[in-house]
Amino acid sequence: MNAPWETYLAEKLIDEEPLQARIKELGAQISADYRGKDLLLLCILKGGVLFLTDLMRHLSIPHEIDFLAVSSYGKEVRESTGVVRILKDLDDPIDGRHVLIVEDIVDTGHTLDYITRNLRSRQPASLKICTLLDKAERRQVDIPVDYVGFAIPDKFVFGYGLDLDEKFRHLPFIGVVKQGLVVE
Ligand code: PRP
Repeated sequence: MNAPWETYLAEKLIDEEPLQARIKELGAQISADYRGKDLLLLCILKGGVLFLTDLMRHLSIPHEIDFLAVSSYGKEVRESTGVVRILKDLDDPIDGRHVLIVEDIVDTGHTLDYITRNLRSRQPASLKICTLLDKAERRQVDIPVDYVGFAIPDKFVFGYGLDLDEKFRHLPFIGVVKQGLVVE
């Protein structure tokens, strides 16, 4: 019997092995860059969760984590509108701290544009972005991304944190959704 997600899968874009290998590399690079600094990893829920937990295990330096949950209106058309609402704010202030945002994907850039403007007003010592996936050709707002796992083409992807109608976030790979199964 096929697994439920197989119905939706056109192809595996990034399989588990290269995905984990790249996260290990990012972990080493971030550990070197933030050595001696008070690092706070800020995960944007929900998509960034799997990436955060794997990335943490590859950091060799002390760090803390916090979570921010946002909701953008207009997601029914699968596209950010630039209007973002904070659903769950950070637990603690970030002034004077070195904050690294951990995201699953940067698409239009609207979500991170809002988040970074909001967080900068809280005066962190530094604010950088680490995204697993970068769909640069879809960008509408210029967002400087400091760490990128993979640059990907403009395809509708799911798995490894990214959902398909809130499901299949648990998959260990990034898959492309079959054409015709989603409204573009
Ligand atoms: C996704 C992703 C980013 C945002 C990127 O989140 O995790 O936060 O969209 O899109 P943008 O660059 O066009 O703004 P989503 O709203 O799907 O929520 P989720 O992580 O809870 O699935």
